[in-house]
Amino acid sequence: MPRTIFVTGASRGIGLATTELILAEGSTVIALQRTITPALETLAAKYPATLHIVKGDIAKAEDVSTALSLTETLNGVVLNAALVLPYGAIATIPLDGFRDIFEVNVFATVQFLQLALPKLRKTEGTVVLVSSAASEAGAKGIGAYAASKAALNQLNRTLAVEEPDITAIAFHPGPVRTEGSATMQHEGKGHIDPALADAVMAVLIEPEVPGRAIRDLVFRAGKEYSGKYLHYDDPLVTSLSL
Ligand SMILES: NC(=O)c1ccc[n+]([C@@H]2O[C@H](COP(=O)([O-])OP(=O)(O)OC[C@H]3O[C@@H](n4cnc5c(N)ncnc54)[C@H](OP(=O)(O)O)[C@@H]3O)[C@@H](O)[C@H]2O)c1
Repeated sequence: MPRTIFVTGASRGIGLATTELILAEGSTVIALQRTITPALETLAAKYPATLHIVKGDIAKAEDVSTALSLTETLNGVVLNAALVLPYGAIATIPLDGFRDIFEVNVFATVQFLQLALPKLRKTEGTVVLVSSAASEAGAKGIGAYAASKAALNQLNRTLAVEEPDITAIAFHPGPVRTEGSATMQHEGKGHIDPALADAVMAVLIEPEVPGRAIRDLVFRAGKEYSGKYLHYDDPLVTSLSL
Protein backbone atom coordinates (compact mmCIF):
# COMPACT_ATOMS: atom_id res chain seq x y z
CA MET A 1 0.00 0.00 0.00
CA PRO A 2 1.57 3.35 -1.01
CA ARG A 3 2.13 5.67 1.93
CA THR A 4 3.28 9.23 2.49
CA ILE A 5 6.47 9.50 4.54
CA PHE A 6 8.29 12.65 5.70
CA VAL A 7 12.10 12.47 5.73
CA THR A 8 14.34 15.20 7.15
CA GLY A 9 17.90 15.57 5.86
CA ALA A 10 17.40 13.81 2.53
CA SER A 11 20.10 15.78 0.71
CA ARG A 12 22.77 13.15 1.37
CA GLY A 13 23.84 10.19 3.47
CA ILE A 14 21.33 8.05 5.32
CA GLY A 15 18.39 10.38 4.59
CA LEU A 16 19.03 10.26 0.84
CA ALA A 17 19.34 6.45 0.80
CA THR A 18 16.19 6.04 2.89
CA THR A 19 14.26 8.40 0.61
CA GLU A 20 15.25 6.46 -2.50
CA LEU A 21 14.29 3.13 -0.94
CA ILE A 22 10.87 4.43 0.13
CA LEU A 23 10.23 5.93 -3.32
CA ALA A 24 11.19 2.61 -4.95
CA GLU A 25 8.28 1.00 -3.05
CA GLY A 26 5.82 3.34 -4.79
CA SER A 27 5.31 5.55 -1.75
CA THR A 28 5.48 9.34 -1.59
CA VAL A 29 8.24 11.23 0.25
CA ILE A 30 8.23 14.79 1.48
CA ALA A 31 11.90 15.70 1.98
CA LEU A 32 13.03 18.69 4.07
CA GLN A 33 16.67 19.86 4.10
CA ARG A 34 18.56 23.13 3.65
CA THR A 35 20.27 22.22 0.37
CA ILE A 36 19.08 20.62 -2.84
CA THR A 37 22.02 18.46 -3.85
CA PRO A 38 22.55 17.03 -7.38
CA ALA A 39 21.76 13.58 -5.92
CA LEU A 40 18.40 14.81 -4.66
CA GLU A 41 17.68 16.50 -8.01
CA THR A 42 18.42 13.22 -9.80
CA LEU A 43 15.96 11.46 -7.52
CA ALA A 44 13.34 14.14 -8.19
CA ALA A 45 13.75 13.61 -11.94
CA LYS A 46 13.24 9.85 -11.46
CA TYR A 47 10.19 10.23 -9.19
CA PRO A 48 8.54 13.51 -10.32
CA ALA A 49 5.09 12.59 -9.00
CA THR A 50 6.07 11.15 -5.63
CA LEU A 51 9.09 13.10 -4.36
CA HIS A 52 8.25 16.52 -2.94
CA ILE A 53 11.37 18.47 -2.01
CA VAL A 54 11.17 21.37 0.39
CA LYS A 55 14.26 23.51 0.89
CA GLY A 56 14.19 24.54 4.52
CA ASP A 57 15.51 24.27 8.03
CA ILE A 58 14.03 21.76 10.44
CA ALA A 59 14.61 24.24 13.26
CA LYS A 60 12.23 26.76 11.61
CA ALA A 61 8.56 26.12 12.38
CA GLU A 62 7.42 27.89 9.20
CA ASP A 63 9.56 25.59 7.00
CA VAL A 64 8.21 22.48 8.74
CA SER A 65 4.62 23.77 8.46
CA THR A 66 5.07 24.50 4.75
CA ALA A 67 6.35 21.00 4.15
CA LEU A 68 3.62 19.36 6.25
CA SER A 69 0.95 21.36 4.40
CA LEU A 70 1.84 19.44 1.21
CA THR A 71 -0.05 16.40 2.46
CA GLU A 72 -3.22 15.62 4.38
CA THR A 73 -2.19 12.01 4.88
CA LEU A 74 1.00 11.35 6.83
CA ASN A 75 1.84 7.71 7.49
CA GLY A 76 5.37 8.08 8.80
CA VAL A 77 8.15 10.46 9.73
CA VAL A 78 11.91 9.83 9.65
CA LEU A 79 13.61 12.50 11.77
CA ASN A 80 17.11 11.99 10.43
CA ALA A 81 18.61 15.50 10.08
CA ALA A 82 21.17 16.26 12.76
CA LEU A 83 24.12 18.43 13.71
CA VAL A 84 27.34 16.75 14.89
CA LEU A 85 29.58 19.80 15.27
CA PRO A 86 31.06 21.40 17.25
CA TYR A 87 33.20 18.76 18.89
CA GLY A 88 34.73 19.66 22.23
CA ALA A 89 35.18 18.57 25.82
CA ILE A 90 32.50 19.57 28.30
CA ALA A 91 35.13 21.69 30.08
CA THR A 92 35.75 23.87 27.03
CA ILE A 93 33.05 23.48 24.36
CA PRO A 94 31.51 26.87 23.52
CA LEU A 95 28.01 26.89 25.01
CA ASP A 96 26.59 28.43 21.85
CA GLY A 97 27.76 25.39 19.89
CA PHE A 98 26.27 23.04 22.48
CA ARG A 99 22.99 24.97 22.15
CA ASP A 100 23.09 24.80 18.33
CA ILE A 101 23.30 21.00 18.51
CA PHE A 102 20.35 20.81 20.90
CA GLU A 103 18.41 23.31 18.77
CA VAL A 104 18.53 21.03 15.71
CA ASN A 105 18.72 17.56 17.27
CA VAL A 106 16.32 18.00 20.19
CA PHE A 107 14.17 21.16 20.16
CA ALA A 108 13.50 20.97 16.41
CA THR A 109 12.42 17.35 16.94
CA VAL A 110 9.91 18.36 19.61
CA GLN A 111 8.65 21.23 17.45
CA PHE A 112 8.30 18.92 14.46
CA LEU A 113 6.34 16.40 16.51
CA GLN A 114 4.01 19.09 17.87
CA LEU A 115 3.21 20.11 14.29
CA ALA A 116 2.97 16.58 12.84
CA LEU A 117 1.24 14.59 15.59
CA PRO A 118 -2.33 15.53 14.63
CA LYS A 119 -1.77 14.01 11.17
CA LEU A 120 0.15 11.01 12.52
CA ARG A 121 -2.58 10.15 15.04
CA LYS A 122 -5.16 10.00 12.24
CA THR A 123 -3.17 7.36 10.32
CA GLU A 124 -1.74 5.61 13.40
CA GLY A 125 1.59 6.50 11.83
CA THR A 126 5.19 5.70 12.72
CA VAL A 127 7.98 8.01 13.88
CA VAL A 128 11.60 6.96 13.52
CA LEU A 129 13.98 9.17 15.50
CA VAL A 130 17.47 8.63 14.12
CA SER A 131 19.67 8.35 17.18
CA SER A 132 23.22 7.07 17.65
CA ALA A 133 25.26 4.60 19.69
CA ALA A 134 27.01 7.75 20.92
CA SER A 135 24.00 8.03 23.25
CA GLU A 136 25.00 4.84 25.06
CA ALA A 137 28.46 5.52 26.52
CA GLY A 138 30.91 8.25 27.37
CA ALA A 139 33.33 9.21 24.61
CA LYS A 140 35.70 12.19 24.64
CA GLY A 141 34.90 15.21 22.50
CA ILE A 142 31.38 14.36 21.34
CA GLY A 143 29.52 15.09 24.56
CA ALA A 144 27.07 17.61 23.10
CA TYR A 145 26.07 15.34 20.22
CA ALA A 146 25.90 12.28 22.50
CA ALA A 147 23.74 14.13 25.04
CA SER A 148 21.39 15.27 22.26
CA LYS A 149 20.94 11.69 21.05
CA ALA A 150 20.39 10.43 24.62
CA ALA A 151 17.70 13.12 24.94
CA LEU A 152 16.14 11.83 21.72
CA ASN A 153 16.02 8.27 23.13
CA GLN A 154 14.21 9.54 26.20
CA LEU A 155 11.80 11.65 24.12
CA ASN A 156 11.03 8.46 22.24
CA ARG A 157 10.15 6.55 25.44
CA THR A 158 7.92 9.39 26.58
CA LEU A 159 6.26 9.68 23.18
CA ALA A 160 5.43 5.97 23.27
CA VAL A 161 3.47 6.30 26.51
CA GLU A 162 1.87 9.65 25.72
CA GLU A 163 0.82 8.83 22.15
CA PRO A 164 -0.70 5.34 22.06
CA ASP A 165 -2.04 5.88 18.53
CA ILE A 166 1.41 6.16 16.98
CA THR A 167 4.50 3.94 16.92
CA ALA A 168 7.68 5.75 18.02
CA ILE A 169 11.10 4.17 17.53
CA ALA A 170 14.61 5.46 18.26
CA PHE A 171 17.10 3.94 15.84
CA HIS A 172 20.90 3.63 15.71
CA PRO A 173 21.93 3.38 12.05
CA GLY A 174 25.38 1.88 12.68
CA PRO A 175 28.73 3.34 11.61
CA VAL A 176 27.80 4.60 8.14
CA ARG A 177 29.93 5.92 5.26
CA THR A 178 28.56 9.50 4.93
CA GLU A 179 29.77 13.09 5.10
CA GLY A 180 28.67 12.95 8.73
CA SER A 181 31.08 10.14 9.61
CA ALA A 182 33.85 11.66 7.44
CA THR A 183 33.58 14.75 9.65
CA MET A 184 35.01 12.64 12.45
CA GLN A 185 38.25 12.34 10.49
CA HIS A 186 38.47 16.01 9.39
CA GLU A 187 37.28 17.73 12.53
CA GLY A 188 37.86 15.15 15.23
CA LYS A 189 41.62 15.58 15.64
CA GLY A 190 42.44 16.93 19.07
CA HIS A 191 38.92 16.15 20.30
CA ILE A 192 38.06 12.50 19.67
CA ASP A 193 40.12 9.53 20.84
CA PRO A 194 42.02 8.52 17.63
CA ALA A 195 41.58 4.81 18.49
CA LEU A 196 37.80 5.28 18.58
CA ALA A 197 37.79 7.23 15.29
CA ASP A 198 39.95 4.56 13.60
CA ALA A 199 37.75 1.75 14.96
CA VAL A 200 34.63 3.43 13.55
CA MET A 201 36.22 4.18 10.17
CA ALA A 202 37.33 0.53 9.86
CA VAL A 203 33.81 -0.89 10.00
CA LEU A 204 31.74 1.57 7.96
CA ILE A 205 28.61 0.27 6.24
CA GLU A 206 26.87 1.83 3.24
CA PRO A 207 23.89 4.17 3.82
CA GLU A 208 21.52 1.71 2.11
CA VAL A 209 21.91 -0.71 5.02
CA PRO A 210 20.29 1.56 7.63
CA GLY A 211 18.11 2.97 4.83
CA ARG A 212 16.49 -0.44 4.32
CA ALA A 213 16.08 -0.87 8.08
CA ILE A 214 14.37 2.53 8.42
CA ARG A 215 12.10 1.78 5.47
CA ASP A 216 11.13 -1.56 7.02
CA LEU A 217 10.47 0.04 10.43
CA VAL A 218 8.36 2.84 9.01
CA PHE A 219 6.35 0.43 6.81
CA ARG A 220 6.01 -2.62 9.01
CA ALA A 221 6.87 -2.10 12.69
CA GLY A 222 3.85 -2.85 14.87
CA LYS A 223 2.75 -1.03 18.01
CA GLU A 224 4.86 -3.44 20.09
CA TYR A 225 7.93 -1.60 18.76
CA SER A 226 6.85 1.71 20.27
CA GLY A 227 9.31 3.15 22.80
CA LYS A 228 12.17 0.88 21.75
CA TYR A 229 15.71 2.01 20.91
CA LEU A 230 16.99 -0.35 18.22
CA HIS A 231 20.27 -0.88 16.38
CA TYR A 232 20.12 -1.37 12.60
CA ASP A 233 21.12 -5.04 12.97
CA ASP A 234 18.81 -5.90 15.88
CA PRO A 235 16.81 -9.06 15.07
CA LEU A 236 13.64 -7.04 15.71
CA VAL A 237 14.69 -4.84 12.78
CA THR A 238 16.15 -7.45 10.41
CA SER A 239 13.10 -9.69 10.91
CA LEU A 240 10.98 -6.99 9.22
CA SER A 241 12.89 -7.39 5.96
CA LEU A 242 10.78 -9.07 3.23
N1 LIG B 1 26.93 8.33 9.70
C1 LIG B 1 27.02 7.66 10.84
O1 LIG B 1 27.95 6.86 11.03
C2 LIG B 1 25.98 7.83 11.91
C3 LIG B 1 26.13 7.08 13.10
C4 LIG B 1 25.17 7.23 14.10
C5 LIG B 1 24.10 8.08 13.91
N2 LIG B 1 23.99 8.81 12.74
C6 LIG B 1 22.83 9.68 12.60
O2 LIG B 1 22.21 9.44 11.35
C7 LIG B 1 21.62 10.64 10.84
C8 LIG B 1 22.13 10.93 9.45
O3 LIG B 1 23.52 10.93 9.50
P1 LIG B 1 24.43 11.13 8.17
O4 LIG B 1 25.76 10.58 8.52
O5 LIG B 1 23.70 10.68 6.95
O6 LIG B 1 24.54 12.73 8.19
P2 LIG B 1 25.06 13.78 7.12
O7 LIG B 1 25.74 13.12 5.98
O8 LIG B 1 25.81 14.79 7.89
O9 LIG B 1 23.68 14.40 6.63
C9 LIG B 1 22.92 15.15 7.54
C10 LIG B 1 21.62 15.55 6.87
O10 LIG B 1 20.92 16.40 7.80
C11 LIG B 1 20.51 17.57 7.12
N3 LIG B 1 20.42 18.69 8.04
C12 LIG B 1 21.33 19.11 8.95
N4 LIG B 1 20.87 20.18 9.61
C13 LIG B 1 19.62 20.43 9.11
C14 LIG B 1 18.64 21.41 9.40
N5 LIG B 1 18.84 22.36 10.31
N6 LIG B 1 17.46 21.37 8.70
C15 LIG B 1 17.26 20.42 7.76
N7 LIG B 1 18.16 19.47 7.45
C16 LIG B 1 19.33 19.49 8.11
C17 LIG B 1 21.60 17.76 6.05
O11 LIG B 1 21.07 18.49 4.97
P3 LIG B 1 21.41 20.03 4.67
O12 LIG B 1 22.82 20.27 5.10
O13 LIG B 1 21.16 20.11 3.21
O14 LIG B 1 20.40 20.77 5.47
C18 LIG B 1 21.85 16.32 5.59
O15 LIG B 1 20.90 15.94 4.64
C19 LIG B 1 21.94 11.72 11.87
O16 LIG B 1 20.88 11.85 12.76
C20 LIG B 1 23.17 11.17 12.57
O17 LIG B 1 23.30 11.69 13.90
C21 LIG B 1 24.92 8.69 11.76
